[in-house]
Parts: sequence; structure tokens; C-alpha cells
Amino acid sequence: MDPVPSDTLISLWADVVGSGMVRDVVRNGRLSEERDEEIARYLSSSWADRWIGEADLLVDMAHVLMLQEQGIIEASHARALLRELVRLYEEGLPEAVFDPDFEDIHAGIESYLTGMIGTEAGGRLHVGRSRNDEVATCLRLRLRDELLALADEVVGLREALISTASDHVTSVMPGFTHMQHAQPTTLAHHLLAYAAAFERDTARLFDAYGRVNRSPLGAAAFASTGYPISRESTAVRLGFSGLLVNSMDAVSARDFALETLAALAVLMTTASRLAEELVIWSSPLVGFVVLDDRYCSTSSIMPQKKNPDTLELLRARSASVSGELVAALGIVKGLPQAYNRDLQQLSPHLWRGVGETRSSVRILKGVVETARFMTERMAAEAGGGGSTATELADRLVREFGLPFRTAHHVVARAVREGRLDADGLEEAGRETGGLSLASRGLDQGWVEQALDPLESVLVRRNPGGPAPEAVEEQRDELASRAARDRDFLAHERRRVDRAIGGLIQAAREVTE
Ligand code: ARG
Repeated sequence: MDPVPSDTLISLWADVVGSGMVRDVVRNGRLSEERDEEIARYLSSSWADRWIGEADLLVDMAHVLMLQEQGIIEASHARALLRELVRLYEEGLPEAVFDPDFEDIHAGIESYLTGMIGTEAGGRLHVGRSRNDEVATCLRLRLRDELLALADEVVGLREALISTASDHVTSVMPGFTHMQHAQPTTLAHHLLAYAAAFERDTARLFDAYGRVNRSPLGAAAFASTGYPISRESTAVRLGFSGLLVNSMDAVSARDFALETLAALAVLMTTASRLAEELVIWSSPLVGFVVLDDRYCSTSSIMPQKKNPDTLELLRARSASVSGELVAALGIVKGLPQAYNRDLQQLSPHLWRGVGETRSSVRILKGVVETARFMTERMAAEAGGGGSTATELADRLVREFGLPFRTAHHVVARAVREGRLDADGLEEAGRETGGLSLASRGLDQGWVEQALDPLESVLVRRNPGGPAPEAVEEQRDELASRAARDRDFLAHERRRVDRAIGGLIQAAREVTE
């Protein structure tokens, strides 16, 4: 974000306040004014606080309502404060509150309010709290919304994978280990592997959500406060599901951000693997998928090129999100209790991680939905590279009673000789302990059936396998859990919206 030129800010501020510059109400007692611009910018979190500006207004409203209820401030002061807070919430925060001359948005909003309504009321906003509990509350509030929105996108991606898989339960393709043809599978089986991984990624987001959605407000600097505040009241009004009880822990804990970033990094790793797979599949060397043009770029010199750039950038962004996690871990690990300013530097890592992940997931969903899978090309490769050799060996076991190791050896020998046919197998059998497979019924028709990739898929019908009935069962279970996750998200969304709606309504009622 480019910094806004300071004369623009001053004139904006003058417009708003009507009386010229307002100083940072937090700094102007203890410290002298002399501070050059570089230091101010170095110290300020204003640019990153755009993520929490709206949350800060909600936190302020809940705090002021509570102060009034508890008899800590008078109704007239609460009314003056809430009138401005509601107006700012409805009209949007003025650019001036993000002036990097303020150390942060909290100082910006308090200074703004004081400029608008005077110190008698404005100066009472911050009674019984600190920026330490305030910022922790704002971070959790915004992150809660981000987690709900992100989880919603991930469920959407799962649904896209599940619905594409439904069309391809009999689309055979080669499965790979070590990037070598391994055994035949189906496109549905392959896509559902990702749906299952993204399901666990969603569960990790939900898990983090449960610990994010707790209120640190009322912890003040770290030692709580002597005013008769009600922590429960602000927590309920803000839609939190409980408190972070210990006031020292409440302000200094950032494990909620670390576990969120860890969940994001793992999720992005899954996304990156799918992106990588699609990059490989879209290579003309493989030709399993044609990506929609909107996700591709071309070359400035090679006219024929259609490159999967979006997926390549997703792969790289996964590395960035892992980097945000590592940076955040590094910031927290050396900090003693309680609040240390290092924590301010963690927040941008969190927001970058959240932002990159959310757009990546949304884009990946679009890539999956618009991809054209080249099922004929996949089928042509399904039996390639000797990928049905396992099934051939298995049949020697099942139908002729050979020990698996002997069967494995016979088939391996025929493969090595480049003679995976009835004669080659017969010869390999004779060389392996004088076995005659022909005398047990092996002929060319038998071999051809054993080498059919579809046959190999059809018999793999244990739970989780690629046979159509096994895949359909997986699909149904994955779909019903995606629906369950959607219900949870809709329920949480409603619960949170109801709480926030009620908070704003309560604030409005005081001002009427
Ligand atoms: N901008 C700060 C942050 O993001 C707010 C807390 C400042 N507290 C303090 N004691 N200086 O962490």
C-alpha cells in the first residue's frame, strides 16, 4: 500500500476535525513531539491495520456499551462516543485515521474521536483497557471472518473435485509412483484423493477457528483492571464463544495466529500439489488435461505457447505462505510474557498468509471446474509402462495358487525379457523353479484379459480403492461431509452476524 502524501492527510484531517491537526492522544503526554518521519513510519502499524479498522470500531462499541452498563462512564459520554462510532462504521473510516503519524489504528481512532467530540467524552473511550487487549481482540475478530470465508472457499473446491470425479468413475488412467507408471486407476479416484486431503485441511481451519474465537478483551495491559468491567458482556456482544481467561496469556498469546498460519501452510501445500499435478498433466508430453485459457499465459516470443502460469504462481505462493508461518514462529519464540511490540510485526504475516491462501483456493476451484480432462489420452496410457503387471502377478496367485513372491518373480522376468505374453510367461515360469503355467490353463486370451487396465481397476473394490463401487462410496461420504461442513459454516456465520448485528443495534439505541 502506498503511503498517502502527508499534506493530503492534513487537509483530510482538517476537514474532519475542523480545527487543523490533531495530535496523537496516546503519545503526547510522556514523550516529546520530536520524531522524524522515518521513525514514525518504522514504528507504526497503520498500513497493516487496514485489516482491523472495522473490527476496532466494533470492539470500541462493545467496550463503551459495557462501560456504561457497569456505571464506569456516564450515559451522556457513552452516547457521544457511540454516535461517532456508529457513524464511522456506517460511513467507513476516514483515510486520516491511518496516518502513520499515529502508532496504530487504535491511536488513530481515539485521536479522531477526541478531535470530534472533545476530551470530556473522547478521553473516556480507553478507560479499563489497553491497546494490548484491544489489538488482540481486533485480530481475532477479523481472523474469525477470514477463517469462515476461507473455509467456505475450500468446501467449494472440495465440491468441485467431487462433482468432476462423479463424471469419471470409469475413466481409467495410469497411477504413478516415483513418477513411473505404477498401476491403473481412475480419474475419479485421483481427484477424490485431493478432495479427501482438502477435507482434512478444512478440519484444521475449523480447529483453529475454535481457538481464535475467544475474547482477550478486559485483560488490559496484562494485569486486568481495577474497574468493575464485565468481560463476559463484551465477549458475548462480539460473538466470541468464551474468554481467554488469564489476562497475561490473553494479551501475549499469538498461538492462534501461528496455528492458523500452520493450517494455511498445510492447505497451500495440498493446493500446490494439485497445481503441480495439473501443470504436469497439461504438458504436451503428457496431455491429460487442457486448461481454460483464462488461467494461462503465452510467450512474448514463442507464438505457440500456452503456459499454466496461474498454477505456477500458486505453487510459488504456497512457498510464500510457508514463509509467513516461519517468520511468525520466529517472532514469537523469543518473547517473554506479556506484550512485546514484536507482536505488531507478526500481524502482516498473518494477513498476507490469509489473503494469498484465499485467492489461491478460489482460483484453483475455477481451474478444476473449467479443465477439460483428456480421458482418451488417459485411457491410452492406463496400461502403459507395464502398469498392469501387478494384476497379472495377482492373478497367478489367485487362479494358479502361486506364492506371491514367485508370481512377482515370473512376471518381472517376462518384463525384463520384453515378453509379457503367454509364451514369455511360460518360459519365465520354467526358469523360475520349473513351473509350467500353460499346464495350469494360462494362454494368450488369459494374459490379455489380465493386462486390461479396466479389469485391474474393477477388482480393486476394497474400501478406498479405485473400483467404481468403491469410488462411489468414497464420493458419497466426501459429499456428505462437505455438506456437513457447509452447514457448520452457515450456522457459525449466522451466529456471528446475529451477535454483530445486535451489537450495532444496541449502540444505535443508546444514541437515539
Ligand atoms: N499496534 C500494536 C500491535 O499491533 C498495538 C499494541 C500497542 N501496544 C503497546 N503497548 N505499544 O501490536
